[in-house]
Amino acid sequence: MNAVFTQRVTGFPRPHFKLSIEKTLQKPTEDVVTFDPKKHLAYQPPSKVIMMKDIGYPDDVGVSPVAVSQPFQLFSPEAIQAMRAEIFKPEVREKCGFSSNIAACQLRGYAKDYAPFAYDAWNHPETLALISNIAGVELVPEIDYEIGHINLSVKSDEETKEELNIINKQKRFYAEDEGIGGCPWEDDKPIVGWHTDSYPFVCVLMMSDCTDMVGGETALRTGNGQVIRVRGPTEGCAVILQGRYITHQALRALGTKERITSVTSFRPKSPFLKDDSELRTVRPISDLSELYYDFAEYRLEIMEERTRRERKELMKRQKTHKKFDTRGHKRFLEESIAFMEHTDHEIVEESKVKKGYIEKVDFPDVVVGSAGEGRPAKRSRTE
Ligand SMILES: [Fe+2]
Repeated sequence: MNAVFTQRVTGFPRPHFKLSIEKTLQKPTEDVVTFDPKKHLAYQPPSKVIMMKDIGYPDDVGVSPVAVSQPFQLFSPEAIQAMRAEIFKPEVREKCGFSSNIAACQLRGYAKDYAPFAYDAWNHPETLALISNIAGVELVPEIDYEIGHINLSVKSDEETKEELNIINKQKRFYAEDEGIGGCPWEDDKPIVGWHTDSYPFVCVLMMSDCTDMVGGETALRTGNGQVIRVRGPTEGCAVILQGRYITHQALRALGTKERITSVTSFRPKSPFLKDDSELRTVRPISDLSELYYDFAEYRLEIMEERTRRERKELMKRQKTHKKFDTRGHKRFLEESIAFMEHTDHEIVEESKVKKGYIEKVDFPDVVVGSAGEGRPAKRSRTE
């Protein structure tokens, strides 16, 4: 039976294709599983972490010198199964399904109310320590609403078969034409064009079996305009990317019937590091009341911490009979005004938000190879 996502907020466009969820997805288990790091973390460090400077970005562009990781094993199969069981709850589909001009089926903001396993998994100090260690900065989930954002695509048997046929033909074509047998077939058509994310770091976790999958990589634009590709994660594995500062795009994945990724966004834990998180790419696909509450609350918490520290500093100087630090305090005020203005800019009035429509930011296409070439030049792949 075909199941169609119903939208939580009236006025959201309905997904433009039907998903045969009952037919194609594993039946969720009924047992409630509690997150236990000993059982559910299956961490294996990434083979490599690529630094901002390795790809031509200045070190101080983001919140960390780390650009992107190679895929690494994060969760055990039992953990993935528990997370899958949570996202297939009917109330999650009914209340937290969103679609937009660039993604047909997404589940958002469900974790706190409906997915205690995923919520605990992403908030657990051991999980955060692993992720922070790779990211080179202590991270926390950006906001509750962004825990475990799900991208969901399910194809019919026929569609998958057709794709695999094309892939096999193309494989032969590429191998014969360029003498690069063994080079995996790739589809260059991106799901979303070149963009930057709204939040400093993202962690993309694969929740499907990728045995037959081809493509699904992330292309990154380097500081000097070249393109590199990073392998996509396989089941239970994750990739982290400083997506707020690196222009990137996800390449299409073909050959799998079901592809579910879970994306959790992160920000630095310290309130004294810069926080230029935006809501640009998420406003149109969110329950704005929930999104704005989470965003406004943590931004105020940061202001609270910064203000408390500044006040203590003033008082300490006074007690020790030091002169008032006019220049220093004016700098604090200036930064605070900019910080508050940024929050204000991100909280756009509800009536001005076009639901389900994510504006394409005009990132010029990357020119790869020299002008006039008939086919794109080879792009480097990171291993
Ligand atoms: Fe992205």
